[in-house]
Formats: sequence, structure tokens, C-alpha cells
Amino acid sequence: MRSDANIAGPMTDPVPGPRTESMGADVSRETPSPMDDTPIGRAAQLAVEALGRAGEGLPRPEQTRIIVVANQKGGVGKTTTTVNLAASLALHGGRVLVIDLDPQGNASTALGIDHHAEVPSIYDVLVESRPLAEVVQPVPDVEGLFCAPATIDLAGAEIELVSLVARESRLQRAIQAYEQPLDYILIDCPPSLGLLTVNALVAGAEVLIPIQCEYYALEGLGQLLRNVDLVRGHLNPDLHVSTILLTMYDGRTRLASQVADEVRTHFGDEVLRTSIPRSVRISEAPSYGQTVLTYDPGSSGALSYLEAAREIALKGVGISYDASQAHIGAQKDPSMVEGIQ
Ligand SMILES: Nc1ncnc2c1ncn2[C@@H]1O[C@H](COP(=O)(O)OP(=O)(O)OP(=O)(O)O)[C@@H](O)[C@H]1O
Ligand SMILES: [Mg+2]
Repeated sequence: MRSDANIAGPMTDPVPGPRTESMGADVSRETPSPMDDTPIGRAAQLAVEALGRAGEGLPRPEQTRIIVVANQKGGVGKTTTTVNLAASLALHGGRVLVIDLDPQGNASTALGIDHHAEVPSIYDVLVESRPLAEVVQPVPDVEGLFCAPATIDLAGAEIELVSLVARESRLQRAIQAYEQPLDYILIDCPPSLGLLTVNALVAGAEVLIPIQCEYYALEGLGQLLRNVDLVRGHLNPDLHVSTILLTMYDGRTRLASQVADEVRTHFGDEVLRTSIPRSVRISEAPSYGQTVLTYDPGSSGALSYLEAAREIALKGVGISYDASQAHIGAQKDPSMVEGIQ
């Protein structure tokens, strides 16, 4: 379970077969960023730069970092963040496992992982005590990225877990028994605070909360934070909110920057400097069973997730993140983006 090295070498194998051609006419629908109105040639160049940059490698954590992506509010970008951050961390040279803990199975779909009812899944791990290693599958197209899929069975697990021994710590035990070296485990939670989410909070040390830059963004967060406190107090003393990520940021609207300001005032340093723009490419990628990193590596969405991953990796080893070094296409701290009303 511990990573086998703490210094990253350069990534050994770039992602095979990236699509670099797809910054076509649609691109103007994305949030404006420096590259939105550029021709395809520029997009291809950015894609190459993005992959080259990803290949630089980043410092690896000394121990496996287990990051729980949670927010009981639906549709805020949990799954999108889980799969794209995981792919970015893998492209940066890490070994990364995504655990799909949502019966909807959206993370499995987005990673191109088969998750029909007969596939061994995280349900078997939680309810049948099957070893995690027996359900983990490699993600096609991204070296170093793996997924433990969710099938529809998981919908019954909230109820079935209730009567099982150690019902809150079954995922934690499964992860502890998993012997493959990993740098990161990212857990995609369902939009609820039931036993599945509690299992994730007991298993991980870090909570990453994606916040959508919209009205009511902070509503319900108090309940999530109280649950984090409860789990820390009773079951997992290491648990803390390590990261807040602003998602679907639309720099054209006053509301988005107001929400961003409010979140930054409230959470301070936990909020990543990089935010994720609203991007058509990000929303299209899952229907091709891909992350945006392989679907359109030069898009602003891909670059933003690569940058967010870099920030998370650097923070994890105590290196301060220099936002001025951020890739030109990534969405930086909104307060640094010119032209916001
Ligand atoms: N940055 C983005 N730009 C555009 N669309 C996005 C972005 N992030 C997420 N979306 C879209 O928003 C919708 C909700 O995203 P996602 O499924 O990641 O949220 P979620 O929090 O996991 O939802 P749920 O609570 O149902 O699990 C999806 O259709 C997704 O494609
Ligand atoms: Mg989801």
C-alpha cells in the first residue's frame, strides 16, 4: 500500500493515442481563456505542450495519499474532478487508483471501465469482503491509472452494510490489505452522507470538496463539515479537509467571482489557486469513456486539471505552489484573471 519511491522520475510512458485534433468550432462555447479563439494548429501545439509538461513528473508522496472527493450536493463536479485529477496525477508520473463508490457508476463509465452487473466491483469488496485486488482494473489509455468500478448492486449496499460487522470501516480494511504500491487513491462519493460516504471518510485522510461556482454553492457544506468532524472524533483522527476546488467557473459572470471570493474567505489556504472552468470538452469526454486528458489534452479543461493536480502534488510534499508558473491555458485564481467584473 505504500508507494515504493518518493522521488518521481520522469513519466516513463506518455499517454498512448491522445486525441489532439478536436479543438474545432465548438471551442467558442467554452469559458473564455487565452486559447479559446485559437485555431486547431495552436490547439495541437498546446496539447503537445500539455503532455510534455505532464511528463515532467512531480514529487511523489512518501505514503499513499487517500483523497475522498465528497459533497452531498449533487452535480457539483465530484466525479468529473475525481477522474480528471486521477488521470492528471497519473500523467504526471504517479500510480493512481480511483475507487468508484457511487452506485451511478459514473466514474467507471468516464474511465472506460466495464461495470455491468456481473463485473466484480466495489460492492463485492464492501459487502462480500472480496479482496480489492480482485476488482481493480487498469484504465485503458492512461498508464499508471486503475479503477475499482461500481455496479448497480452498490445501490443496495447502504442498507446491506447496516447489519454487517465494522460497517463503517470495511473500505478502510480493504485498502489496508491492498498490496500494490500506489501514490494516490481517489474515492468518488455519491451525493449523500450515508454509509458509503462514511466508509470513504474512514478510509481516507484527506477530503477534497468540489464547489460549483453557482448560487447556493455553500449550502449544505456545514453538514458535510460536521460529518467530517464526527468521523475524525470517533473513527479516523487523521481526517481533514485538505482541498477545496472551484469547479465550473465561468469568468464572465459576476456571480462566479463572488462565490469564489466567499469560498476563499471561508476556507483560505485549502482552496486551490487553480479553478476549473466551465468547459464543453470536460462534459463531452465521459460519453466517449474518456477523461478530458485523453479526449482533448490541449483544452482549457485538461490544462486546468493538470495544473490542479500539480498544485495538489506539490502541497502534499510541502512545496509552495507558484501560480505565476501555471500553464497559460489553465484557469488561475479568479482574482488573478483580468477582466472579471
Ligand atoms: N468544468 C465543467 N464544465 C462543464 N461541465 C461540467 C464541468 N464539470 C462537470 N460538468 C458536468 O456537470 C455534470 C455534473 O458533474 P459530475 O457528474 O462530475 O458531478 P457529481 O458531483 O459527481 O454529480 P453526482 O452528485 O450526481 O454524483 C456532468 O454532466 C458533467 O459533465
Ligand atoms: Mg458523481
